[in-house]
Amino acid sequence: MTVTPVKSQVFQGYVGKEKAFAKNGKGIFMTIEKNGKEYRDVIDAVSGAAVASLGWGDPDVPEIVSEALKKHTYSYPGLVANEAAEKLAKFYIDNSPPGAFASALWTCSGSESNENALKIIRQYWLEKGQPKKTKVISRECSYHGFTLGAISIGNTPRGAPFKDLMINQEEVCLKMPRCWPYRDMKEGETEEEYSQRLLDVLEKMILDNDPETVSAVIVETLPGSSIGTPVPSKGYLKGIRDLCNKYDVVFMLDEVMCGTGRANPNGKLNCWENFLAPEDGPDIQTVGKTLGSGYVTIAGVLISPKILDAYVNGSGLILGAQTYHSHAFNCGTALGIQQKILQNGLTKNVFENGNLLGKKLQEALLDDPNNFVGDVRGLGGFWTIEFVKDKKTKEPFPPEKKVGPRFSDIALENGFNIMGVSGADNYGGNWDIALFGPSFIITKEEVDLLVERVVSAVHALTKQLRAEA
Ligand SMILES: Cc1ncc(COP(=O)(O)O)c(C=O)c1O
Repeated sequence: MTVTPVKSQVFQGYVGKEKAFAKNGKGIFMTIEKNGKEYRDVIDAVSGAAVASLGWGDPDVPEIVSEALKKHTYSYPGLVANEAAEKLAKFYIDNSPPGAFASALWTCSGSESNENALKIIRQYWLEKGQPKKTKVISRECSYHGFTLGAISIGNTPRGAPFKDLMINQEEVCLKMPRCWPYRDMKEGETEEEYSQRLLDVLEKMILDNDPETVSAVIVETLPGSSIGTPVPSKGYLKGIRDLCNKYDVVFMLDEVMCGTGRANPNGKLNCWENFLAPEDGPDIQTVGKTLGSGYVTIAGVLISPKILDAYVNGSGLILGAQTYHSHAFNCGTALGIQQKILQNGLTKNVFENGNLLGKKLQEALLDDPNNFVGDVRGLGGFWTIEFVKDKKTKEPFPPEKKVGPRFSDIALENGFNIMGVSGADNYGGNWDIALFGPSFIITKEEVDLLVERVVSAVHALTKQLRAEA
């Protein structure tokens, strides 16, 4: 059999097309090769995929890695615990609000964390003697990863081709509306009224579906690649917490992309601390990305005392274990990285300099009537530019224009790397966004340089789109 020759032998992304290759990097800068051209000193403004908290080539990481490697080779987590995994769990629990979490499972990806969280919640209800609780409510347009369980709680057209393999969408994985003030708040509506409108829909869903069968509500605290960092409207997350309490439903937050220091106001870890009091935190939470800063593949599931107690006072046995769960090398490396981040105040740094980036982008782009920037939104180290055809009506560009991905190409030509996405819902809506999530080490000077480059790239995009109009 003959095989069509392809340029890359890695089965990922586009096949049969020239791929961009990351060659090397230092700090927030990297060198990328694309179509035979080398791009040097590119600012990685999205740190891969909001991952590389310490940036490229951190000088302390080789020592951290080496220590982790010397201490432990491998033990099977289902049977034998290891010190590094224990210490990382203690670190996360100690650096979260008191009483928020009591235990943690370490996995290898965000998708796997969400997959495990679904099973942990299911077993929780079995331990509590409530087997009828099976239904999970998550949101339209959400992204929770790409394994089958994660696609089932997600809701993007990317997952739609796999519908026949997914968990039943009509009876088990139900969807409530997204929270996206820029697009969905009505004229004259206050943030609180908008939140209440969404919460009323959720409450009706719980009641219509028999609260005795509703197991969990799952939301990303600050959604990322799906709809681009819309900050939840006032009272929204607290309202979900209250409904979960009222109907005895598990409240789960997905902080895979927005968590672990990317957008924490207290120099610590969780994004939800922006919106919720310690006692209103989630019952279960998934994390990933910045935890290992891209040096190791690690993600996790954080368990509140309430969930842990049901297991301790129930069967005492967590069903299922995967070979590389709570892997000592991954956990040891992640712990060293997190300790460095904390000791150097880097979470605080990215919160401040990220907010500065957002403010400067807003000032530079929003009031210019000539460009196509409809919104600049976000929090801490997680920001989005949304492009629209009409700033007043917010009408998006036609999807075939692929403005989001095109902006990625223009960005590279202008010396920075972002995630440019043409998004769509399952109901005919579409949008174009560019996602920013820099490394935690970004300085004020680098913010200025990045803003300068973004403004040039936006001008270039404007010119292109006007020429086509
Ligand atoms: C909110 C959210 N959850 C889950 C995931 C899946 O994580 P992973 O790609 O590590 O499987 C992602 C990835 O972008 C994400 O943004």
